[in-house]
Amino acid sequence: MSLKKVHDKQPENFSFNEDSLRKADEILKRYPTENKKSAVMPLLYLAQRQNENWIPLAAMKYIANYLSMPYISVYEVATFYTMYNLAPVGKHFIQVCTTTPCLIRGADKIVKLCKEKISPNENEISKNGTCSWIEVECLGACVSAPMMQVNEDYYEDLNEKDTLKILDSLMKDKPLKPGSFRGRKNTSPEKIQSDGEKHA
Ligand code: FES
Repeated sequence: MSLKKVHDKQPENFSFNEDSLRKADEILKRYPTENKKSAVMPLLYLAQRQNENWIPLAAMKYIANYLSMPYISVYEVATFYTMYNLAPVGKHFIQVCTTTPCLIRGADKIVKLCKEKISPNENEISKNGTCSWIEVECLGACVSAPMMQVNEDYYEDLNEKDTLKILDSLMKDKPLKPGSFRGRKNTSPEKIQSDGEKHA
């Protein structure tokens, strides 16, 4: 998304809704009052969840005020970590891991499918507005490579055919169930029966 488009989408104001305020209150209890600015990261995450998975500048200002800390300090944190989205993303936000283990197991094919099915470029929302995608570094599920994260869910043990089905389901706003697409439970090995075939 171009800088102008991002600028156009910035809301004038932001404030926590009732639910976020309650959660923010809980979060603040974890820190000594004099160190309440340490809560900046979970509060940014809270703002992101409330605001369709991205953090506008107004939310950073609101959090700075909420934690009595300089706006620039909140901005520095928000712009440092890639888990914070600073521009609108699709309702289904797809993060494709392309670090070595996933790449060796075919992550490049997943990226190619995202380009074909969703949008030619990263951070570009699909024409129907449902999805956007980016490449990311290791998401800590290398044992189930290749994999991708969609909002808060992991889709693992992927191949091209299954990825295509998942992307189609997301574009139709009817997401398939996340998890292993080789039927593995967590990171358990696949069952191999006496006929030598693999079974879920
Ligand atoms: S390399 Fe992809 S999850 Fe670790």
